[in-house]
Amino acid sequence: MRILITGASGLLGLNLALETAHRHSVFGTVNHHTLKTEAFTVIQTDLLAPGAVEHLLERTQPDWVIHCAALANLDACEADPLLARQLNTNLPRTLAKHVARGGARMIHVSTDAVFDGLRGDYSEDDPTNPVCVYSRTKLEGEQAVTEAFPAAIIARVNLFGWSLTGDRSLAEFFFNNLSQGRQAMGFTDVFFCPLLANHMAGIFIRMLESNLSGIYHVVSSECLSKYEFGLRLAELFNLDSRLIIPTPLAQAGLKVPRSPNLSLSCDKLVNTLSQPLPGLQAGMDKLYGLYQNGYPQVLRSMRSS
Ligand SMILES: NC(=O)c1ccc[n+]([C@@H]2O[C@H](COP(=O)([O-])OP(=O)(O)OC[C@H]3O[C@@H](n4cnc5c(N)ncnc54)[C@H](OP(=O)(O)O)[C@@H]3O)[C@@H](O)[C@H]2O)c1
Repeated sequence: MRILITGASGLLGLNLALETAHRHSVFGTVNHHTLKTEAFTVIQTDLLAPGAVEHLLERTQPDWVIHCAALANLDACEADPLLARQLNTNLPRTLAKHVARGGARMIHVSTDAVFDGLRGDYSEDDPTNPVCVYSRTKLEGEQAVTEAFPAAIIARVNLFGWSLTGDRSLAEFFFNNLSQGRQAMGFTDVFFCPLLANHMAGIFIRMLESNLSGIYHVVSSECLSKYEFGLRLAELFNLDSRLIIPTPLAQAGLKVPRSPNLSLSCDKLVNTLSQPLPGLQAGMDKLYGLYQNGYPQVLRSMRSS
């Protein structure tokens, strides 16, 4: 298959591109970052530029499109709500409209943060209630894609893994701090179900092969607090877990509000694919295996600016 992955310099996009490039012809877009790799075709493009989406689809002629590009930094969204809306709402709408015309299948990557997190264990049918600019513009992106291309898949995700810049994921936050002997806050009352980005690749491919459409939760089958996540990582990498400071969210002094309990049910996807999703231990074990094989350094070496 010819797969177009937007945001291939990001945490999710780069891991998806590398995992899928073994069997497919992959085109990955970057914007500010430059990326040197033989594994897939890198295309530099600002997707907000006039005509960029049309030109990209014309050039790559994809069978499948996985849209990962976004403004995913909560503080950046709060600081520039207009850019957040352009990237998280308007761009997905434009892309979905053009992909629909061309006949390819599409996964639009959304977020668990469309919920307010006051309850947890959310299913796809539960009411959404975003609490910040990021999550509001992502929810509006879901709605825009559904309108423009009802057959598209909306994947609400949460993820961890190794990234190009070495600092994009919570796993890297704990790893970087603890391995340098620095303390790190771990939220005891914020819950999530992070799936390893590399595992997400295989699941996305199965979803596309199965011709699914509509909203799916694509997260780990295990949910835990961010503090517990840090402890699990410290144990696996033999780092000093005493450096992780158990912290209630309210004491952290964060400017942008967070949804506390983002545990999601992925029963819909599990039942549809008739296959369990990987749990956290499988993800952690693979994260460690990738580390032992020098994967973080390989990613870092792809960075040329
Ligand atoms: N990370 C998480 O834990 C998490 C959790 C829930 C949902 N998600 C969702 O998962 C998706 C991927 O997130 P991520 O963490 O991988 O994001 P990320 O690491 O911040 O990467 C964002 C990507 O978007 C690209 N991009 C930004 N502006 C662009 C533009 N104008 N034109 C073209 N590309 C542009 C960036 O390219 P350059 O860097 O080259 O400029 C980068 O490749 C997003 O939809 C996010 O909302 C992520």
